[in-house]
Amino acid sequence: MAFKVSYLLFLLVAKCIAKPNPEDNVPATTTEPTPTESFGNVWKLDVQGNYWLFWKTNATHITFETHVKTKGYVGFGLSSNGKMFPSDVVIGWVDSNGTAHFKDCHTEGHYAPIIDASQDWFLLLGKEDNFGTVLKFTRKLDTCDDNDYLITESTVKVIYSYHPDDPASFSSLPWHGAERRGAKSLMLLSSVKANEYVPPSDAEQFDMLHNNYEPVISPGNEAYVHHILVYNCPTATDADVGKVYECYRHRPRNLKCSDVVIAWAVGGVAFDFPSNAGFSFMTPGDPQYLVMETHFNNPTMKSGIVDSSGLRITATHTIRQHDAGILQAGAKVNKLQFVPPYEKDFLSRHSCSQQCLQEKEEIHILMFQALVTKQNSMKAFATLLHSHLLGTSIVARHIRGDVELEPLAQDLSYDFDYQDNRMFPKERKLNIINRMFTVFQNLELNTHHPLDSARGASKGAEFNIFLAHMKY
Ligand SMILES: *[C@@H]1O[C@H](CO)[C@@H](O)[C@H](O)[C@H]1NC(C)=O
Ligand SMILES: *[C@@H]1O[C@H](CO)[C@@H](O)[C@H](O)[C@H]1NC(C)=O
Repeated sequence: MAFKVSYLLFLLVAKCIAKPNPEDNVPATTTEPTPTESFGNVWKLDVQGNYWLFWKTNATHITFETHVKTKGYVGFGLSSNGKMFPSDVVIGWVDSNGTAHFKDCHTEGHYAPIIDASQDWFLLLGKEDNFGTVLKFTRKLDTCDDNDYLITESTVKVIYSYHPDDPASFSSLPWHGAERRGAKSLMLLSSVKANEYVPPSDAEQFDMLHNNYEPVISPGNEAYVHHILVYNCPTATDADVGKVYECYRHRPRNLKCSDVVIAWAVGGVAFDFPSNAGFSFMTPGDPQYLVMETHFNNPTMKSGIVDSSGLRITATHTIRQHDAGILQAGAKVNKLQFVPPYEKDFLSRHSCSQQCLQEKEEIHILMFQALVTKQNSMKAFATLLHSHLLGTSIVARHIRGDVELEPLAQDLSYDFDYQDNRMFPKERKLNIINRMFTVFQNLELNTHHPLDSARGASKGAEFNIFLAHMKY
């Protein structure tokens, strides 16, 4: 499949970023469900807002709560490919007497789910309220049942369905219909923010330290805006402010902008830094000028698309304890980095050794300047894995000396249509250049491509990109 990307570049100064308008953040729908407790994660699974999912996790368990605008039955499940089968599902409803019915099932075909011999999802609460039907249930991340989905940090396709009526029994479920069902990619174990982001109360002073950002995509252009990068541009001057031009070929000569400050890709939502860290702007040595680069994906070459998407950056004068930065590990698009045509299965491996980290080799790694000069080690708190269409699995490995540590990030069912920051459960220490220590890190990014996947085999050589944008 031809993957056509065209580039546009915008230049703006940190000082010129508009103050976020609080009214933009008021959710469009007023009919929102009220969870029975604070969950931390919430996602509206359908555009109509009929099906809401709340969830929370700990080291061993996950607890979900579904709020669905129906008084009939509710289906919820986990699948690695987003299809209704094979998948791990639960079915539940609250009958006219207020009694909740709930079963752990799995699907095998275009017929009603089959009840699992081993019941590993447990109902905690089932009721009907003004919004609809509420089901709260919990399970182990790993139930050891072959009919249950193993929940890991990989992207999972959450599937959902509902029906206006209660069934007579589990063996006589009426079909939910084509409209009352869907699938959504989520990273259940990374903290995911709500669909609507509310900026902190001290966000009015915004022109010095950025510590939050959220994507603002022009309505209707969701399919075309592929990813957005914001670079620090130390060589820019006031004369460059406001310039717009096509990337790379038409970039003005004086602009040398290589350090990525913000990376956003399709599906991503607002990102909130840990409370003790933020990007530092406008003080000496900090970025003074930013270039925003938007990559569009328009494979059908549709004409007449006008786009004014961008990022809303929330900034504050309240200085955070630590300056944050981004380390990019992996391989950028270049002529040597391609997937051969008709390849069935392809592993692309890139490693960044101590030498590579020291030499700041372009192909392998890019770094925010402050990192090497100011710090010997850094604490990484989040990463965003990024590959183009062919990537199906990405692993950011972490090797210190002779020891391989737990991967920094691992997604064995990577979804191009859903790329977002993953917060590490706990901070990860990376030592970069440190002559006093003998340990060093080798950051290696493995990307796996079964090319006969759902996305279709590649007919032409595809130049690809594999990156882990590590935030520290
Ligand atoms: C994790 O959550 C489950 C379900 O809520 C609970 O039973 C379990 O005690 C929790 N474990 C820890 C260590 O808190
Ligand atoms: C509700 O309770 C009544 C009385 O016990 C019973 O006859 C009826 O079948 C119950 N309805 C349902 C849907 O279970």
